[in-house]
Amino acid sequence: MSSTIPTMADLKWVLEYLLSPSKPVIVYGILIVLLLPLVLHYLVTRTTPYTNLPTILLAGPSAGGKTALLTLLERGEKATETHTSQTLHAIELTVSSDPGASTFREAARDDAPGSHKKFHLIDTPGHGKLRGAAMAQLGGDEKGSQTAPFSDPATLRGVIFMVDAATLTDSLVDTTTYLYDVLLALQKRACSGSSSRPPHPINVLVAANKLDLFTALPASLVRGSLEAELGRIRLSRSIGLLSLGIGEEDVGTDDPDNWLGQYGSDKFIFEQMREFDIEVDVIGGSVLEGKVDKWWDWISSRI
Ligand code: GTP
Ligand code: MG
Repeated sequence: MSSTIPTMADLKWVLEYLLSPSKPVIVYGILIVLLLPLVLHYLVTRTTPYTNLPTILLAGPSAGGKTALLTLLERGEKATETHTSQTLHAIELTVSSDPGASTFREAARDDAPGSHKKFHLIDTPGHGKLRGAAMAQLGGDEKGSQTAPFSDPATLRGVIFMVDAATLTDSLVDTTTYLYDVLLALQKRACSGSSSRPPHPINVLVAANKLDLFTALPASLVRGSLEAELGRIRLSRSIGLLSLGIGEEDVGTDDPDNWLGQYGSDKFIFEQMREFDIEVDVIGGSVLEGKVDKWWDWISSRI
């Protein structure tokens, strides 16, 4: 009886056919080698939609030191010279959960103890006309943001807003207007309540950089100046609405959406952002002197 079970002779014949060079075998072989990775890639990416790493966004006005910080964290050395940035630039970094490895230099080592988590740090240009790039990362549909978000806004864990503490007094209005837009975008995002709303809050670190310079304001004064100016901007924007013909009573009742922080409050303080699950810290440091460990700790606890 001729059974369907292959005999040794059949196996030998198949092996001989496959191993002897013939046109069909070569063609099919090449096809399999070329197509298999593509099919596997398609299957893997289809089943895991979010392979995106968590991201931390670097924002802030020009010359605050964002690119200098990124270079320091990436290479462990100070940037010799930086140019004003024109585009987004992202790097991958590793934080270690081990409390002993709290400095970025130790955490970045592969053999550091504890578990490691990777994340993306995104540098953005601070020039007034290029800020749409950073705003697009926040998930807002801001004017002038032609840049497509680098990553899914849902992966955003924190925003580091870098300011030059040495020149803050001169550039206070420009710096604070930018910070106002960032905070308002985060507040709107927290209020949007859409299904794309991230499950985790996005916190903000105001990094008061260049504390090595003797003209630099200490972190507490940076906080005070920014809060006072944010309050002024908030007021002038609501008066701006008044002058556009929206009645005072309308502003009082209808437009809490564009009001930063606790609605109707006189003074603005960063604590008011807690209402929207946004925690704002102001921490001083100096990229030039390598004093960035407190910022690194802040990042580690947000990843
Ligand atoms: P844009 O790309 O224009 O948004 O600016 P940026 O925020 O990336 O600034 P960048 O990193 O290019 O730094 C601007 C200048 O500040 C550079 O000349 C840096 O060397 C200098 N700088 C950065 N950090 C420090 C610091 O801690 N102390 C001092 N004294 N200078 C610093
Ligand atoms: Mg830069």
